[in-house]
Amino acid sequence: MESAMKTLLVVCVAALGFLVAAEISESMSRAEEAAAKINLPELFEECNETFPIPKVTLNYFFSHGRLQNENDYVAKCFIHCLTDRSGEIDSEGDFDVDLIKVMTRRFPNETNIEGLSEMVDKCVAGRGETDFCERAYGLVSCLVKEKLARLGHSH
Ligand SMILES: *[C@@H]1O[C@H](CO)[C@@H](O)[C@H](O)[C@H]1NC(C)=O
Ligand SMILES: *[C@@H]1O[C@H](CO)[C@@H](O)[C@H](O)[C@H]1NC(C)=O
Repeated sequence: MESAMKTLLVVCVAALGFLVAAEISESMSRAEEAAAKINLPELFEECNETFPIPKVTLNYFFSHGRLQNENDYVAKCFIHCLTDRSGEIDSEGDFDVDLIKVMTRRFPNETNIEGLSEMVDKCVAGRGETDFCERAYGLVSCLVKEKLARLGHSH
């Protein structure tokens, strides 16, 4: 009797673990699907129409994790536009963390970084900005800096 109970308990715990894992992978595959629909070159072009930013400014940002001129508000709004149009930030300023994880892994090239998930969680948790452009800039800066550091490039 006791051993039957134990077996039942083990089965229940295993089933629960399976359900949790299934739920996590379902939410990640939703994010993968959403990410697959994002056309980055098109987004860059669209956002550049509203918030024009020179290519060199953008290249500096993506290779350093910060703007050369940190008072460049238009550039920060360009970054917000990218995260907004891609669905990584919603109209309330809330983050789609799973989608951010997929995009961080994919952009600019598919890279497998150790601890990427924790890295994104940390960057998301660190956001105290209320202004949407500052908030998006803060997030992406953090992601780019962390990613560069983990890839071994330090500027
Ligand atoms: C934005 O558009 C301007 C004008 O066409 C262009 O010079 C610039 O390189 C574009 N920026 C990006 C990031 O594509
Ligand atoms: C990404 O891939 C492109 C084309 O394959 C390559 O030119 C570029 O150097 C790569 N960028 C990084 C950051 O690895």
